[in-house]
Amino acid sequence: MKFFVDTAEIDAIAELNELGIVDGVTTNPSLIAKSGRDILEVTREICDLVDGPVSAEVVALTADEMIAEGRKLAKIADNIAVKVPLTWDGLKACNVLTNEGNMVNVTLCFSANQALLAAKVGATFISPFIGRLDDLNLDGMELIADIREVYDNYGFETQILAASIRSANHMSDCAKIGADVATAPPEVIKKMAGHVLTDKGLAAFMEDAKKANIKIV
Ligand code: G3P
Repeated sequence: MKFFVDTAEIDAIAELNELGIVDGVTTNPSLIAKSGRDILEVTREICDLVDGPVSAEVVALTADEMIAEGRKLAKIADNIAVKVPLTWDGLKACNVLTNEGNMVNVTLCFSANQALLAAKVGATFISPFIGRLDDLNLDGMELIADIREVYDNYGFETQILAASIRSANHMSDCAKIGADVATAPPEVIKKMAGHVLTDKGLAAFMEDAKKANIKIV
């Protein structure tokens, strides 16, 4: 499973990127607003830092305007994936931008039917939002499983990019179900390394090392 980082914070991306675990980055208007940066400027910086796809989202609502914005975003760098919402106009924009040779990420997906349409219009990525479904007492992970089944039934190449990930468990559950990509905030990715028994075991090892005066360098 590929790891994308869901943030527009350059320092956080750089820290994870140094570890070699960043396969791409996703942003959205809320994350750009949170960064306080100009969208074109910060997206260019992210594209310089990371080799994989960097999703940059349009803010228009009509297909024609989304296409114009998408073309401008795509000019930032070769690794831009233009992000469009899963609306009828977004599907039209996806179709045009894909046919022009761009990577397109169709976002705000909440049903298998929406994911099926995105695949039919040639989306590179479909972004189902797990956390926002869980917030409503629905089952976000079930949606990932449903889309996996539908795509595998017909060999669709659209990659399932699990989004709105809120916990480390979401990451392993996505990997078990077979999401192609999971995008998560940096703090969630870091939490994947934690385990209370690791902390406890390490504390005991350190105590014994101190008692035995073990020195290595
Ligand atoms: O990639 C989409 C993601 O940023 C949405 O996450 O936590 O706002 O639902 P959240």
